[in-house]
Amino acid sequence: MDMSSIQAQEERDGVRLSWNVWPSSRLEATRIVVPIGALYTPLKPIGNPPPLVYDPIRCNGCGALLNPYCQLDFRTKLWTCPFCLGRNHFPPHYAENITETNLPAELIPQFTTVEYELQQRSVGPPVFLFVVDTCLPESELESLKDSIQQTLNLLPEDALVGLITFGAHVLVHEIGFGECHKAIAFKGSKDYSAQRVQELLNIAPGNRPQQQQQQQGGRAAAIGSFLMTVGDCSFTVESVLEDLGRDPWPAAADQRAARCTGAALAVAVGLLEAAAPRQGSRVMLFVGGPSTVGPGMVVDKARSEDMRSHQDLVKGNAPHVKKAQEFYAKLAERAASNAHVVDCFACSLDQVGLHEMRSCVDRTGGVAILGDSFTQSVFKESLRRVFRRHADDQPGPNAGHLVMGFAASLEVLTSREFKVAGAIGPCAALKNNKIKTNYVSETEIGQGGTNQWSIGGIDPSTTIAVYFEVTNASTTPVPAHKRRYAQFLTSYQHASGKQRLRCTTLCGAWQPDPSDASPVARSFDQEAAAVLMARVAVHRTETEEVADILRWVDRSLIRLCAKFADYRKDDPSSFRLPHEFSVYPQFVFNLRRSQFLQLFNSSPDEASYYRMVLVRENTTNSLVMIQPTLVSYGFQAPPTPAMLDASSVRPDVILLLDTFFYVIVFHGETIAAWRDQRYQDSDEHVHFRTLLHQPLEDANAIMDARFPVPRYIIADQHKSEARFLICKLNPSVTHNSTDVHAGQVIPTDDVSLKVFMEHLMKLAVES
Ligand SMILES: *[C@@H]1O[C@H](CO)[C@@H](O)[C@H](O)[C@H]1NC(C)=O
Ligand SMILES: *[C@@H]1O[C@H](CO)[C@@H](O)[C@H](O)[C@H]1NC(C)=O
Ligand SMILES: *[C@@H]1O[C@H](CO)[C@@H](O)[C@H](O)[C@H]1NC(C)=O
Ligand SMILES: *[C@@H]1O[C@H](CO)[C@@H](O)[C@H](O)[C@H]1NC(C)=O
Ligand SMILES: [Zn+2]
Repeated sequence: MDMSSIQAQEERDGVRLSWNVWPSSRLEATRIVVPIGALYTPLKPIGNPPPLVYDPIRCNGCGALLNPYCQLDFRTKLWTCPFCLGRNHFPPHYAENITETNLPAELIPQFTTVEYELQQRSVGPPVFLFVVDTCLPESELESLKDSIQQTLNLLPEDALVGLITFGAHVLVHEIGFGECHKAIAFKGSKDYSAQRVQELLNIAPGNRPQQQQQQQGGRAAAIGSFLMTVGDCSFTVESVLEDLGRDPWPAAADQRAARCTGAALAVAVGLLEAAAPRQGSRVMLFVGGPSTVGPGMVVDKARSEDMRSHQDLVKGNAPHVKKAQEFYAKLAERAASNAHVVDCFACSLDQVGLHEMRSCVDRTGGVAILGDSFTQSVFKESLRRVFRRHADDQPGPNAGHLVMGFAASLEVLTSREFKVAGAIGPCAALKNNKIKTNYVSETEIGQGGTNQWSIGGIDPSTTIAVYFEVTNASTTPVPAHKRRYAQFLTSYQHASGKQRLRCTTLCGAWQPDPSDASPVARSFDQEAAAVLMARVAVHRTETEEVADILRWVDRSLIRLCAKFADYRKDDPSSFRLPHEFSVYPQFVFNLRRSQFLQLFNSSPDEASYYRMVLVRENTTNSLVMIQPTLVSYGFQAPPTPAMLDASSVRPDVILLLDTFFYVIVFHGETIAAWRDQRYQDSDEHVHFRTLLHQPLEDANAIMDARFPVPRYIIADQHKSEARFLICKLNPSVTHNSTDVHAGQVIPTDDVSLKVFMEHLMKLAVES
């Protein structure tokens, strides 16, 4: 499979596979080292066909959806399901009209991905519950209030809005009362159960007598007092925000502010459980410091206790971590089981406890933003982009609606020769008695033991990695013509309030001959493989030490090369990698050095943040995170991609580095000097002016399209900011090098790519 067919499949279905031809037995599959997996982007925009405004047809036997790989018999009006091989009658309205030339969209060969707009009742407007930290410096609070007010204007008119503020206490604001503004207070030190929250707010579903009204009960009571349509309450919410001052509880100089983030989240989750069960809702948490009181606290109020570091975590020297993580994990589970999303916008110079709160965001499909200040565009512009809308100039059922989807879940069906090992991404495994175990393998990768996951919040770049296991023994060889099938079913609430179901059906080949691995090798997608391996590595950091993971990463690479490279035993100079594998070692080299697996220079919050973003992004974006892109601008040539290497740094070039989280424009020494002498202002030097301008424009284009908005850095060679670029470069020129004119000297003892490759060749060819 060549790159263009890989791209075509990604365009059509939003899928990239590590291997596109699979070994046909379990044993052979374990020998290919890199797990068989798919990176699936359920809401990737597909131009065609437009959403189908009817319900899908399901197989009576296994529930799979009618798709282009079904065998059709136009005479008997029967279709055969490729998953269970069961035969089904077409329903009458299909049977009447269906012919080879008149097929419904879901049977047309190129429409392997279709989306249905289900015809059942709509699910109603989404709920946005703002949970706002008030223990902030005045200027931070002002900026945050301003952003939230602007956000109100970005919501759909019929969306429901609620407001909770917290400091030492939690206040749930009654925004349904117009002029006279009331709030219900909760102690920050207490862990309120859902029931207690609902009693205190007087919205308990049990308040209504009749059984069937239970669901409606909590909703009806909450709406009107704590949740209001944005159109009806924006004035009240704005005036509450205007009056909102800093938390009145003073903190002594040697004390941190009393901040009860955990209690506030518990109240928010409890409120939504009663008010919007299984209905699209987001808890949007805005927090500017660590939780210091009550459940989920991450550090003591006394400043004499430091925030935990990586060292503390390793040494078990972080007294609050375990308890806090357990607390937030339980909240996450409750939110996920109601398909509610928790977002965390954390802006602070210090850590806020994202490391502990991570599961709340990760398991519910929420977004996390980590910034230094609520005044920066990393926060302000990112928040605005959460509320992006589909263009409304193109007619269709998406037009003008928010891009975000709600209450999403994913189910994966497989044909009989392989099973689902697990998923890694912003999701939570669903384990219920409806899980059909014939799709689920015993081996687990990531969140396994199921073929269904709750995703919660979803957007067009949300990407779930699904791993598979070939289960057939070599004693039952696959017949040569046999194909494999997988179906990805994503159901979600569209921002229009309609229920949608996206169906992607994949079909691929087996390699039946175990003695010939070359078709499998030729089907290798090294980019997808690197991302799938990176996700496994990052997932393992939750339970394992980084040093062990690095060893596993290295061993896997050596085994992969030993299997697929050409070489004579014990002769490293004979080592050649087929071109399908040619850049894979470099991805691994950069992954090893990346912020995902190296912890110096980052806090536990930052490490968690980077890892959360990596496991939710699409393949392209993930690759940029693993191996940043570098473009060089000079007088000699048009802008060209440059090696991520110290030798690319030269006095007379400008470099543009994109690490996904940072975008850096780097001026070589000479360029910086000319710029400081303002050559660009004189008409003699229009070339220079253009040269100076081009990378800035390109940087802006990257930043305009990116979520979260990256940090933007302009750096000069030899100046302090340059370290953000230098640390990403292959240290081919170090303080040990003899040739000091070869490029930027990088003060490091890290091995260079060259040394890394030499080791790899030596170890791979070893008998
Ligand atoms: C088939 O034709 C009938 C009228 O003969 C029509 O009502 C129905 O919608 C058609 N079904 C499809 C799937 O096109
Ligand atoms: C990945 O997501 C970005 C937006 O974040 C988008 O621009 C890009 O086209 C996506 N890549 C693919 C291959 O879909
Ligand atoms: C693979 O194994 C399953 C049972 O695990 C069996 O039903 C199926 O026929 C086998 N497939 C092939 C192609 O041998
Ligand atoms: C640099 O030199 C020191 C000793 O001079 C040596 O121990 C170290 O391994 C060298 N590093 C590299 C990357 O060559
Ligand atoms: Zn079936």
